[in-house]
Amino acid sequence: MEGEIVEDLRARVDAVPFWWHSIDLGDGVVTPGVKSATLLQAELDTLGIGDLSGKSVLDIGSYDGFYAFQAERLGAERVVALDHYTWSMDLGGFDAYRRRCIESGTPVEEPHTLADYWRPDTLPGRRGFETAHAALGSEVEVVVADFMDCDLASLGTFDVVLYLGVLYHMRHPLLALERVAAVTSPRGTAMIETLAESFRASERHKLCRFMEGDELNSDASNWWSFNEPAMLAMCREAGFASATLQRAPARWKRRAAALARGTVSYRAVLHASRAADTSVRKSSRHHSA
Ligand SMILES: C[S@@+](CC[C@H](N)C(=O)[O-])C[C@H]1O[C@@H](n2cnc3c(N)ncnc32)[C@H](O)[C@@H]1O
Repeated sequence: MEGEIVEDLRARVDAVPFWWHSIDLGDGVVTPGVKSATLLQAELDTLGIGDLSGKSVLDIGSYDGFYAFQAERLGAERVVALDHYTWSMDLGGFDAYRRRCIESGTPVEEPHTLADYWRPDTLPGRRGFETAHAALGSEVEVVVADFMDCDLASLGTFDVVLYLGVLYHMRHPLLALERVAAVTSPRGTAMIETLAESFRASERHKLCRFMEGDELNSDASNWWSFNEPAMLAMCREAGFASATLQRAPARWKRRAAALARGTVSYRAVLHASRAADTSVRKSSRHHSA
């Protein structure tokens, strides 16, 4: 790219008040996301996403679109990025409000309850996604929708459904998983990344912890954490024929930490499939537990 064009791109990136994802736009321009490029690459590696040639991909909760753009780079034939929540927010304004609340010890309210920062009519929080989409010349399709309240039939089904960092933000996680299963094609795979937790001496029980208000990370949109048996059972109950834990700290480490501390939080990646047995699940299986 010419110097002037690169400077123009840099200026457009700088004009976005808040970036969640660090996205490489080429020519040394990387968006300054809260999630660093190194972290995102590590997260991508743990997904076991494989070759996406010829596949259709739905990225639910796409935010700035890092995973959707990666899916496109990995050869997916069709990629749909769906979001509405952060896209409806004045992200810069809300971030400043949240910092003020933390400093003053006041509870942080959910963004959609705060008229000052909630703008579903103009979608200011989509600016990061739009900037990256244009800079990359991406053909990722955009759907502005609440996944919990949209017509799933018109969305269709996809070979790969990415549900990353969303489940524990759902008030109704089992319903959410049912909806994820409904948009996963019969031989497809849903890749689910979530907050998870081991509780002392209880891995034989299916346990979820409910978090009230903003008690986790001063974020009032965090509702749940799940232990391993609960996550797998919920996937099965939601309509997936099988679910496997792809990535998590080794089971013995979780047990030991939970024994010492009562509870230990971790991030888990699950693969869930509508079919009882698929080559996608077999080939991408690398259980670290
Ligand atoms: C923690 S962010 C995760 C972003 C990205 N998937 C990642 O892993 O980096 C959660 C995302 O889910 C989106 N989200 C939350 N509820 C949603 C819903 N009901 N429908 C669609 N998107 C939703 C939020 O707007 C936000 O962009």
